[in-house]
Amino acid sequence: MKHKNGILYGIGVGPGDPELIPLKSVRILKGVDIVFAASSSKNDYSIALEIARPHLGKDIQTIRLSFPMTADIEREKHAWRKNAETVIKYLNQGKDAAFITIGDPLTYSTYGYLVKEIKSLSPNTAINTIPGITSYQAAAALTNTPLAEGNESLLILSGLKEKDRLKNLIGKADNIILLKAYRNMQEICSAIEELDLTNKTTGVIRCGLDGEEVITDIRKMLNKKPHYFTVLMIKNTRTTTS
Ligand SMILES: C[S@@+](CC[C@H](N)C(=O)[O-])C[C@H]1O[C@@H](n2cnc3c(N)ncnc32)[C@H](O)[C@@H]1O
Repeated sequence: MKHKNGILYGIGVGPGDPELIPLKSVRILKGVDIVFAASSSKNDYSIALEIARPHLGKDIQTIRLSFPMTADIEREKHAWRKNAETVIKYLNQGKDAAFITIGDPLTYSTYGYLVKEIKSLSPNTAINTIPGITSYQAAAALTNTPLAEGNESLLILSGLKEKDRLKNLIGKADNIILLKAYRNMQEICSAIEELDLTNKTTGVIRCGLDGEEVITDIRKMLNKKPHYFTVLMIKNTRTTTS
């Protein structure tokens, strides 16, 4: 008899604290046959897997999928395709699988690329995505900072942009969140300084993880190599909202 194909669940394990995983995701994690987690091409360590670990059954199969952090688009596409094929192979064996990511699975996440590839290779695959708590929600909670109030705007940005573009975007919103603030911290700080927002910016490093740090003077971030897990929150109170 032909078996039914398995379901793929997209699960966000939150920013670090294993208690910040939705109950629904915990239930799913306990029931799936396989947990996939992204790892970089440099090593197979997965922080998402470490966060999820307390919720996994001891016999669960875990598989790391390598997503290279590279500017080489062809290499990247090849990896997405290969990883999608791997996931489909297990689903076709009737196994249910979870793909886990840090924070929310659909916010700047490898999961989005994986889903696109799976849909194009195997359009009938059953995919069920469960939202997760983002890094910036946890950073706001840690510092008791409202993300947005009243009729204010909230802009979520990647820091991987050149300075003028960053400056232009930051200047247009009331509240700005900068993720991926690790690579061009110099440019980011300089854009913020030129907008006179340095004193209105708070940084959170490794939120919910060992070594968690709140930075109230972001100039201090320029003295050392910025951590990959850095989020910046900017309050642009000069912007008037309509
Ligand atoms: C690829 S994005 C992943 C975003 C994630 N899906 C989310 O919902 O927050 C990676 C960026 O998220 C932010 N990030 C993720 N986890 C974090 C944490 N625990 N503390 C601080 N920043 C974090 C950092 O800006 C990092 O460069």
